[in-house]
Amino acid sequence: MKYFSLQNKNILVTGGGSGIGLALVKSFVQEGAKVILADIENCEKLAKSIGATYVFMDVSKESSVRDGFETSVDKIGKIDVLINNAGISLLSGVLEEGDAAKWSKVFDINVFGVMYGLKYGPRYMNQGGSIINTASQAAFTKVAGMEPYAASKAAVISLTKTAALELAHQRIRVNAVCPSNTKTPMMAQSEDAAYAELMSNLFSPMSRVAETDDLVGVFHFLASEAAQYINGQALIVDGGWTAGVSNQLLEKIQE
Ligand SMILES: NC(=O)c1ccc[n+]([C@@H]2O[C@H](COP(=O)([O-])OP(=O)(O)OC[C@H]3O[C@@H](n4cnc5c(N)ncnc54)[C@H](O)[C@@H]3O)[C@@H](O)[C@H]2O)c1
Repeated sequence: MKYFSLQNKNILVTGGGSGIGLALVKSFVQEGAKVILADIENCEKLAKSIGATYVFMDVSKESSVRDGFETSVDKIGKIDVLINNAGISLLSGVLEEGDAAKWSKVFDINVFGVMYGLKYGPRYMNQGGSIINTASQAAFTKVAGMEPYAASKAAVISLTKTAALELAHQRIRVNAVCPSNTKTPMMAQSEDAAYAELMSNLFSPMSRVAETDDLVGVFHFLASEAAQYINGQALIVDGGWTAGVSNQLLEKIQE
């Protein structure tokens, strides 16, 4: 449908080299968009193999973000859709044991990364564009010992709402997508991968972790003109986890 078309849009995805970001890059290319895969890792070959263009960007460094946008615009022209997706997950124990170095690392990438994207992105974007920040269901559903990641994602939602107010004059919409546990290298490498899968099976009424394919359509929708009046929202994509208590959890309690 024309309304949902991303044909000929210029799209930049940070953290595009793996997991959710890579799934988005592949899908956007297939939809006829010109896509920049921005990542801290060298993804030159990967980008080429899927029809995207690689640009180095370390989202935690202000100058790297600015330079990355500059290079991207030189390569494909002004951006229509910016996905601030790069992020890391690090646990730091319960708050009483908080490790400030870990907090800084997570905030440098997850919070400052999005903040720099919102600072520089709009300068390199066309009017009528869309920015989508990857937050997390963790911003809403708290689990002991899971900060600072959850706090960083709550900050991303706050940044999303403020940016939506500030960028409306440029006709740029800003929204966030908040996935629950999703099968990606990040989840596989996390210190609590098995625990995350168990939690999803128990807490999500759909009784499974998300696949990247469960998320692609949501980003696609928010990027497109079909979502032209959706602004400043944090869309939770969690199979119903935050809706209430799943049947399997109820059964477990009754055992
Ligand atoms: N996988 C999940 O369960 C899950 C759930 C909710 C939200 N998220 C969020 O989705 C986003 C993507 O996560 P994923 O699971 O696909 O992770 P992933 O580890 O598979 O991919 C993350 C990508 O970001 C890149 N990256 C890391 N630091 C960077 C930096 N400083 N600058 C630029 N790129 C950098 C990595 O190289 C990698 O390519 C993250 O923001 C994450 O917090 C993931």
